[in-house]
Amino acid sequence: MSQRVAILLSGGGSNMVRLIESMTGDHPARPVLVLSNDPDAGGLAKARALGVETAAISHKAFKGDRPGFEAALSVPLAAARPDIICLAGFMRVLTADFVRQWQGRMLNIHPSLLPKYRGLNTHARAIEAGDAEAGCTVHEVTAELDDGPILGQARVPIQPGDSAESLAARVLAQEHCLYPAVLRRFAAGDRRPILLP
Ligand code: GRF
Repeated sequence: MSQRVAILLSGGGSNMVRLIESMTGDHPARPVLVLSNDPDAGGLAKARALGVETAAISHKAFKGDRPGFEAALSVPLAAARPDIICLAGFMRVLTADFVRQWQGRMLNIHPSLLPKYRGLNTHARAIEAGDAEAGCTVHEVTAELDDGPILGQARVPIQPGDSAESLAARVLAQEHCLYPAVLRRFAAGDRRPILLP
């Protein structure tokens, strides 16, 4: 039986597209929903073009009432009955209650080599610190932001003259390889971390 996957996003959805394109053939999972907190998120149209069900719940309508927003988010989720949730550029911080409901079956991709640089502006901070390398991490989501067991990492050398934008572009290319590889393994019940390259 294929694992059912819901993907949550807030923006353009380039990771979502790679995840959906990877779930074919002998892949142990299939996409069942792409859900956004922004009805205008560019990723929704891309998901529809790939033939996947979409839904949007604007967090703005809830004026900071996170449990209320999450209760609304749970309606299309309950209808789609996912086994796995992939956060792919989903920019709302989820409450511990919501995370507990999906504990052990919710993944996230973060654009740094966790545990370094939790939060935002990860590339600028790595360059600022004079690091030799940056990267991205796929991890299981826990109540602690950008924490949880690591399921995969990809390392990207920082080059002289790199800007946060030029580095972000090279890291994003690695994200597009790492997340599908981790999802395939995770959906097969294998939690051994994948380290690229
Ligand atoms: C990615 O860099 C991801 O690591 C971060 O948000 C960005 C989303 O990009 N959490 P996209 O919407 O998948 O193109």
